[in-house]
Amino acid sequence: LASTEVDLSPIAVGSAVTIMWRGKPVFVRHRTAEEIQAARSVPISQLPDPAPDQARVIKDEWLVLLGVCTHLGCVPLGQKPSDSKGNFGGWFCPCHGSHYDTSGRIRQGPAPANLEVPEYVFTSDTQIRIG
Ligand code: FES
Repeated sequence: LASTEVDLSPIAVGSAVTIMWRGKPVFVRHRTAEEIQAARSVPISQLPDPAPDQARVIKDEWLVLLGVCTHLGCVPLGQKPSDSKGNFGGWFCPCHGSHYDTSGRIRQGPAPANLEVPEYVFTSDTQIRIG
């Protein structure tokens, strides 16, 4: 199956890009220190779909997610600066109101699971290959 290379070097801290991969959007966010801290300070036991942030990233500052809401498959908002990022600073799905945090984990609303992390590797300091 096809894989996709993504050059991370143009993506500034605090910004994000959306790549299409196998017909689905993939969100790549260059997290700020505050976003990483927010993702790590929440007790795992409070999460609807418990997962430590550390298990969802390869490098702390880079979060890579399938941009597909785990409720009914809408594309959540949060990639553009003007988008709502929901109540937890990550993404907000406007279809039925699911709020995801800065690790892409479901925190509030009907979605049953965290945004999925696709298979990817770093092929250099500033490049990843998804798939
Ligand atoms: Fe996202 Fe329903 S599809 S909340």
